[in-house]
Amino acid sequence: MTDTPSIIIGVPRETSPGETRVALVPAVVAVLAKAGAQVVIERGAGDASGYADAAFEAKGATLASRDEVFGRASVILGVRVAGSDAASREDSQRLRRGQLVIGMADPLGDPEAIRAFASTGATLFALELVPRITRAQSMDVLSSMATIAGYKAVLMAADSLPRMFPMMMTAAGTITPARVFVVGAGVAGLQAIASAKRLGAVVHAYDVRAAVKEQIQSLGAKFVELPVEAGNAEDKGGYARELGEEFYRKQRELMAKVVAESDVVITTAMIPGKKAPVLITRDMVEAMAPGSVVVDLAAERGGNVDATRAGETVWVGGVRVIGAVNLPAAMPYHASQMYARNVAAFVQNMIKDGALVVSTDDEIVRDTLVARDGDVVNAAIRERLGLTTATA
Ligand code: NAI
Repeated sequence: MTDTPSIIIGVPRETSPGETRVALVPAVVAVLAKAGAQVVIERGAGDASGYADAAFEAKGATLASRDEVFGRASVILGVRVAGSDAASREDSQRLRRGQLVIGMADPLGDPEAIRAFASTGATLFALELVPRITRAQSMDVLSSMATIAGYKAVLMAADSLPRMFPMMMTAAGTITPARVFVVGAGVAGLQAIASAKRLGAVVHAYDVRAAVKEQIQSLGAKFVELPVEAGNAEDKGGYARELGEEFYRKQRELMAKVVAESDVVITTAMIPGKKAPVLITRDMVEAMAPGSVVVDLAAERGGNVDATRAGETVWVGGVRVIGAVNLPAAMPYHASQMYARNVAAFVQNMIKDGALVVSTDDEIVRDTLVARDGDVVNAAIRERLGLTTATA
């Protein structure tokens, strides 16, 4: 260890519209300092998530302007990085060759932005691509953010529903519990199931991956059996595969009755890198009782409900369809805390003897590295951009 840390981590304030999170929280600054890094944070970066400048300073971070953060840091940590909005383009002027940028970059959703980033010569790691291996669990931002989204989706549904969630036996009569149907029982769906159960609802859930049946049941929810053969619905990463329009048509038909009988439907079904499958039609929503609520967590990926409009609430007859986007930003204190732990674990994995080492021998480094030395280096993104393969 030397007296002057060779790793200077910069944390700019998030600029993407509606983004309230911050990439590091004070407690995690202390952890990184212990690992030999110094943290420079933009003034006010934690204001929207409840982390004051003074709290960062108390843990050893230095406050600075945005230009200073980019100018001094060897590594930039962000929640949303390499976007295609005006603020991201402005930041790209601040980047320099060889500087490391780590954050969520939507690499498969917006590959053009990755191409633009690559032209800066800086190195980009997209945390969405962290492999789902045991060693990387502590870095899995998709899981931590999905946990928050699943929880918040239930709160939003409960808040808009004209009925109560729990069963109540009162002198004024018995209130029957709300019926909640969760479609897709990955990380967000399982958290939605658990949260709806805690509020006292009767919960049903369905997923194409047969392996989750037991997990659904262990949370006290009922697994909806649909007589449709998904075959091998899982890819080797544990994610769902795309199953084709004929399967989805059958699935919609078979789910219609469960949807009609539910007060709340929460959809979370996603296929990595693809548009979300449409699982609930307008007719299915119209068949729900007036006052019912649908929360579509797949809104950003096109939606599981065909009426969904991302970022908006639309009415289909008497039913509210909430096109939920970026719910973790609605819980910024804990979302930032969880994100910070994930990103710090990712950085720590690259610190060797007090220096940052980018070694593509490490699967975690290799899978997340998307731009380096002026090139897009991830095969899937290169393919989407129509670039010839090769490189790293
Ligand atoms: P996701 O966000 O990509 O999708 C959400 C859920 O929708 C998935 O469970 C998927 O099977 C389901 N789905 C897709 N098409 C559907 C359809 N037509 N109907 C109903 N459901 C549909 O997935 P998420 O939540 O990120 O994770 C999926 C799985 O990945 C986990 O359950 C787990 O097995 C695995 N995983 C592994 C981790 C690790 O090993 N470190 C960490 C987190 C997840």
